[in-house]
Amino acid sequence: MDETSKAIGALALAAQQAALLRGALTSGFLTHLGAEIGVVDLARQTGIGPGRVRDICVALRAAGVLDSDNPDRYRLSVTYAPLLRDGADILFTNQLRNVAVRARLYEQMFTPDGPDRYGDLSDDDRAAIAAGSSAAPSTELARRALRDAVERIPAWGEALAAGDVRAVELGCGLGGHLLTLLQLHPRLTAVGVDLAADLLDRARADAEGLGVAGRVRFVAGDATAFTDPEPFDMVFWSQFFFPAASRVKTLANAFRLLRPGGLLVAPVLPAPAAGPVNPQIAMQTLLLQAWDVPAVTTGELSTELASAGFEPVEHGATVLARRP
Ligand SMILES: C[S@@+](CC[C@H](N)C(=O)[O-])C[C@H]1O[C@@H](n2cnc3c(N)ncnc32)[C@H](O)[C@@H]1O
Repeated sequence: MDETSKAIGALALAAQQAALLRGALTSGFLTHLGAEIGVVDLARQTGIGPGRVRDICVALRAAGVLDSDNPDRYRLSVTYAPLLRDGADILFTNQLRNVAVRARLYEQMFTPDGPDRYGDLSDDDRAAIAAGSSAAPSTELARRALRDAVERIPAWGEALAAGDVRAVELGCGLGGHLLTLLQLHPRLTAVGVDLAADLLDRARADAEGLGVAGRVRFVAGDATAFTDPEPFDMVFWSQFFFPAASRVKTLANAFRLLRPGGLLVAPVLPAPAAGPVNPQIAMQTLLLQAWDVPAVTTGELSTELASAGFEPVEHGATVLARRP
């Protein structure tokens, strides 16, 4: 019994600490803790009473988020200090909000119908799930990560550097990926297509804020039926959210939308390693498959693409294929 309560206690504590960290990030509380600060000053700057500020700091210190040599003064710990650099706070806030929505969905796994569908979530919950699977395009962190990802795949980099490039993303969500890429490639123009019109409203507002609105259009509709008079050089397919029943039609449309020689680019879950199951991948797979989305590996995705007529180009964490 001791072992059981220890194990469940650890899970329960992690859930509470994640919630406290989520609040500390979303409220901006942590932005005051880049350099050491006293409890009284922190209370003045946040408008929270000094007693609660002290209690919060003690709990965040116990969670490893803060460091202190004096019970009245705190700063971010070495592990958490990078949160305040390059927009990492936005990335991790999105991740923790996503987890808060997923927590409810995992609880619903044990009903015959399974968890609420992505399309049935409230706008805010859907946006939280979408943001957790997206880049935060206003951040240096997102730009660096995408620049590095493109550099690792020469065929992708060469295609993007080929001059005026037209791209479409099927299932663009909040458009984090496209909006980041548009900032990195000034000669890129793009269209984002998604079923969720509420997400596209947010994507349009972000495009304005980032100064790329003149080069991107967001279209509400089904990726299986989207048409455009001009062919595209590149199709991005956010295949993680596409249920089994829509995949063959989506790929047939991606093929039609591309010019001959054009590239299809799709992310994929890492292949399972030998040994114990990776718990994060197991949780992700559970949710995807409950939504009828097959959690495909690189090899399985490549087979799907080959059946749709694409030729393989690259088989890493991002799969690339070419329309012959
Ligand atoms: C969350 S996202 C992708 C994130 C995106 N790559 C980014 O960087 O923000 C996946 C999207 O695919 C969309 N989707 C799934 N099936 C679709 C379909 N048949 N047509 C259009 N969009 C679809 C979902 O609505 C969902 O918003």
